[in-house]
Amino acid sequence: MTGVVCRDMTWHDIPTLARVDGTVFDADAWPEATWWAELAERPRRDYVVVEEAGDVVAYGGVDVGGETADVMTLVVAPTGQGRGLGRLVLDELEGRARAGGADRLLLEVRADNGPALSLYASNGFEEVGVRRRYYQPGDVDAVIMRKTLGNNDVDR
Ligand SMILES: CC(C)(COP(=O)(O)OP(=O)(O)OC[C@H]1O[C@@H](n2cnc3c(N)ncnc32)[C@H](O)[C@@H]1OP(=O)(O)O)[C@@H](O)C(=O)NCCC(=O)NCCS
Repeated sequence: MTGVVCRDMTWHDIPTLARVDGTVFDADAWPEATWWAELAERPRRDYVVVEEAGDVVAYGGVDVGGETADVMTLVVAPTGQGRGLGRLVLDELEGRARAGGADRLLLEVRADNGPALSLYASNGFEEVGVRRRYYQPGDVDAVIMRKTLGNNDVDR
């Protein structure tokens, strides 16, 4: 993708992240304080942003601390959606999980989030469980999905 750069997230990104999160997740958005706390957990929490023409158009993060890594968040700004940026961020997070030694990647997604469910399924994630009425208000289930990365198939 030309003109698109994926890089490590920095403290300077936080106001932009909180603003974009607010437009995407409404009441579930992470405020600036949460972003500060998450970035303080580096290197275990590994966050990336995608820039296009100097603007942050996508971002995501992964928790890598053992055999199981967890996707913490993944967002494409509304104006950037549908152009492959979500898949780009997910591939980057998966690569970082592998590099950190994880052999499986887990995530949770709202059961009513069709685009995200489709993205994950088409990237090799399988549904492994459901947390009933996990998202409140609204009583929306959380679908737990997992992808086997196979690090240990190579090493052991
Ligand atoms: C879900 C999200 C990350 C997808 O990012 P995106 O850049 O729009 O998606 P991409 O262009 O990379 O598409 C990758 C795949 O996602 C799926 N997808 C993306 N948009 C979709 C839509 N509107 N409807 C159905 N599937 C969709 C498709 O499987 C697509 O593959 P395809 O192009 O081969 O059909 C993005 O819509 C987003 O940020 N949504 C709001 C925040 C959110 O829900 N984050 C996930 C929380 S778990």
